[in-house]
Amino acid sequence: MTARQKVWVSRPLFPEVLARLSEYVDVQAEAVERRHSPEALREHLAGVDAALIGLADPVGAAAVEGNRRLRVIANLAVGYNNLDLPALTRAGILACNTPDVLNETVADYAWALMLGAARRMGAAERWLRAGQWRGGMRFDDWLGFDVHGKTLGILGMGRIGQAIARRAAGFDMHVLYHNRSRLPEPVERECRATLVDKAELLRRADHLILVLPYSRESHHAIGAAELALMKPTAVLVNVARGGIVDDAALAAALREGRLGAAGLDVFEGEPALHADLLRLENVLLSPHIASASADTRRAMATLAADNVLAALGHGPRAGRPPA
Ligand code: DGY
Repeated sequence: MTARQKVWVSRPLFPEVLARLSEYVDVQAEAVERRHSPEALREHLAGVDAALIGLADPVGAAAVEGNRRLRVIANLAVGYNNLDLPALTRAGILACNTPDVLNETVADYAWALMLGAARRMGAAERWLRAGQWRGGMRFDDWLGFDVHGKTLGILGMGRIGQAIARRAAGFDMHVLYHNRSRLPEPVERECRATLVDKAELLRRADHLILVLPYSRESHHAIGAAELALMKPTAVLVNVARGGIVDDAALAAALREGRLGAAGLDVFEGEPALHADLLRLENVLLSPHIASASADTRRAMATLAADNVLAALGHGPRAGRPPA
């Protein structure tokens, strides 16, 4: 009898997804959320045929060098900047991500951040909870920025960007986008979106949502020079990756009134945050949870598990390499 294959799951996961995996393979699942040191990561990966890991687990050459057993790594995310794909390819390891199943949920969240930052919801809630609402309220206090009827800019027009754009029709917004390539005309029509160059996007957007993948090329795609092009009343939303924005430059622009507000779900060097972002009132912050609805996180975990099973020869689905 051949030994059962082994799968390591680097963080707590839905019991039903672990049970699905356990029908075919032996599962070692971490019971608590923790950061794994490079040594621990390497050790865990050395003894298994497959692993389901998260964005906080960076897997590069050092983690898999000499590993003759590991066949597949499934990233519990659509983004995969934590994976060194050339190193995995050299080691003969397949990589999978979780595209599509989170598009609408992340689009909802980008809108929530845009609306919340524009209308100062974080600061208002803090003020209320601190017991500051004692008497009346000045008529000209708590003034935010309108969203309806304004120009929405989207930087990165993949599947999530398109889902964000489609929602804009209900708010009577004008949608501009910038992307590596132009969308097919029917998709542009459906999104009611117009391609412009990056400088024009920055200049014209009342609200700018970042949804581009992180890479060496997109590192600090929004820095001091780009922020200087934006309207002082503009609202910037980042649901992509922290390194896409220069957080120090962003904090300075927000502090000095050169940018209206920001809604941020991702940060350079997260979970650490730039100290000024924590202090500023015109920024709405959340801990990288744009895909965190119960249905979507369950769908992501199920897709990752199915991909692992398929890659190990137990399922109908093909292991899907990152697109
Ligand atoms: C991902 O899956 O890459 C996103 O960052 C989730 O919010």
